[in-house]
Amino acid sequence: METSTHRKRYEDLKQQINFHNHRYHVMDAPVISDAEYDQLVVELRQVETAHPDWVMPDSPSQRAGAEPSEKFEKVRHPRPILSLANAFGEEDAHAWYERVCKLDDRLEKARFVVEPKIDGLSVVLHYRDGIFVQGATRGDGELGEDITANLRTVQTIPLKIPLNMGMDKQRSDKLPVLEPKSHPNVRMVPDVLVVRGEIFIPVKEFDKLNKRLEENGEKTYLNPRNTAAGSLRQLDPAMTASRPLTLLVYQIVLWENKTQFPREPRSQWQLLEYLRDLGFPVTDTARRFDDIESAIAYTAGWDNRRDELPYEADGMVIKIDDLNLADELGFVGKDPRGAIAFKFPAREVTTKLLGIEVEVGRTGVLTPKAILEPVEINGVIVRNATLHNFDYIAEKDIRPGDRVLVKRAGEVIPYVIGPVVDLRSGAEKQYVPPHTCPACGQPVEHFEGEVAWYCVNAACPAQLVRNVEHFVSRAAMDINGLGIKIVEKLIEAGMVKDIADIYTLSREDILGALTKKDRKTESAPPGKIAENLLAAINTSRRQPLNRLITALGIHGVGEVSAADLSRHFPSLDLLAAASADQLQSVDGVGPNIAEAILDWFSRERNRKVLEKLKTAGVWPKGAAVASPSVGPLSGLTFVVTGTLSGFSRDKVKEFIEGHGGRVTDSVSRNTSYLVSGDAPGSKLQKAQSLGVKVIGESELRKLCA
Ligand code: IVH
Repeated sequence: METSTHRKRYEDLKQQINFHNHRYHVMDAPVISDAEYDQLVVELRQVETAHPDWVMPDSPSQRAGAEPSEKFEKVRHPRPILSLANAFGEEDAHAWYERVCKLDDRLEKARFVVEPKIDGLSVVLHYRDGIFVQGATRGDGELGEDITANLRTVQTIPLKIPLNMGMDKQRSDKLPVLEPKSHPNVRMVPDVLVVRGEIFIPVKEFDKLNKRLEENGEKTYLNPRNTAAGSLRQLDPAMTASRPLTLLVYQIVLWENKTQFPREPRSQWQLLEYLRDLGFPVTDTARRFDDIESAIAYTAGWDNRRDELPYEADGMVIKIDDLNLADELGFVGKDPRGAIAFKFPAREVTTKLLGIEVEVGRTGVLTPKAILEPVEINGVIVRNATLHNFDYIAEKDIRPGDRVLVKRAGEVIPYVIGPVVDLRSGAEKQYVPPHTCPACGQPVEHFEGEVAWYCVNAACPAQLVRNVEHFVSRAAMDINGLGIKIVEKLIEAGMVKDIADIYTLSREDILGALTKKDRKTESAPPGKIAENLLAAINTSRRQPLNRLITALGIHGVGEVSAADLSRHFPSLDLLAAASADQLQSVDGVGPNIAEAILDWFSRERNRKVLEKLKTAGVWPKGAAVASPSVGPLSGLTFVVTGTLSGFSRDKVKEFIEGHGGRVTDSVSRNTSYLVSGDAPGSKLQKAQSLGVKVIGESELRKLCA
């Protein structure tokens, strides 16, 4: 690139970063994600390293944050409120350590404290003689905004420190008064203490808040960070008080004391302990390490455990424990050399919502799907995301053409959090759900009390595709090679009108349905593909009854109920003839499932399918393979909740059933054990309230040992 192009890009970067700083810090309404912002800053720094002579005071690298907004009094901070340099990964963190080692050889023996980097709003709290007198935002690091009135409403901010001693004094005159300056166990307070911490909304509280807003038909918030910032930086303290804000502190900005004691803590570890003793909320996730390797290893280990933290954390902070040493290292721009922010890979990014596609499920449910401008989130290119349902789109007012915030975290399917309303051009139209099924054109229906819209046309080709997909799946008839593309073609050509037609397919039918791509990419020649498929179809005729019941796709009848049903009703004739009472005598079959089974067998179309299956010789009898294996878990019933580290959902089921146990979906008094993993759902509470034993993965293995 030519220098002039470089220069242009540099000016552009400065302008962009200044703009986004303003959106984030002054307006509390960012229009790009933190990750995208960080990327711009990384690029700016690269240019500035290559051309140090270009750096002027207007560069965003020369200050932290942005100017305070006009509505609050400005406050000059007693010391600059610094920012942190970022490390993206272990290599970066090691590079930081190498750099500081070169500056001071004491680093080789230094200890480190690792703390979570809370994604909230940085505040500066002033205490005079132990009384909270002023609280400010960080602003640009020099000048902040006086938000004392709002901060007073935050319950976890101590209005008087030390907290315990004050309480002892108030409680009773008869209690011995603890004199701070004479009592060794009570921490003392300097004349002036200015601390810094992070105000945030815990994730659970945020979810509750949004749920309440949703129930009242009000607009919900996008994420905890912006909500926390918005709640503090508005002029009505009553509004702040109504928000579930809380605090964690991590730094002493100023310490002034006329007497020798107490002494200012000179290690980060002691500092945290001291502030905790005074009554400040301090993280209990901080750890101290004797060397950088273990500090980095601990830090990196939090990346996939971040959801265990009760708040949103965008990384961990690695700090040199010795505060004198850290101070002596000085800073680069506004970033102290004595600490580094180890950022977790981003999970939220913004991208354009190109359109909303509607898919039809097996039961006819219409599901909206976001078509996105492809975007990378934590190493994966995301093109589609779920929009949950039509109510969600309406409630968040998500419009095609919007820039949207998309989240991809862990195993969860990427989803659209909401639109960045401020980036609308004005041309975006509110989304109207379809009135007709996008696959068959028939009118769609909505049932009282349900969120979903349905296509109720039993002959809808899209439903048929999903039905066939389910019928041939591994847990059902297990017909290998009948992929979705072939199924679609067969349905389109009229060869498959229902699931039973699979058994009358000829070699020619299959050859005709192979796409050009199948012919090219498959290793076998087309004739061989057709033969293999026919053989798989043929083998499936001998599948046991429980699998065929699963394959029918009756609402609420999964593998477990299908196996139970096949034991009670050893043929489809008997199952079809069963009454509601007889059905409900089967373990795990309640009135709803019984109703669904009756409904399924009463439909003319389904009866025809059954006839066709019978004629095709797909009519297994007897409990056959469905009888449970005998083992150490025989007679025990299990329910699983949360994520297990050593098992997928299917595998844990296989494991339990393989050892003779049963797995059911919901906890009842008959449940022997609840196997609980990470992030357990409401089943855990239910088990606890019913007194059902709760065990972990290792205890489950022990039961089988
Ligand atoms: S230390 C000189 N510790 O992250 C001290 N910062 O990206 C610099 N933050 O502006 C800050 N948790 O608002 C520190 N445990 C923690 C933190 C933390 C969150 C925020 C803070 C800072 C930003 C830097």
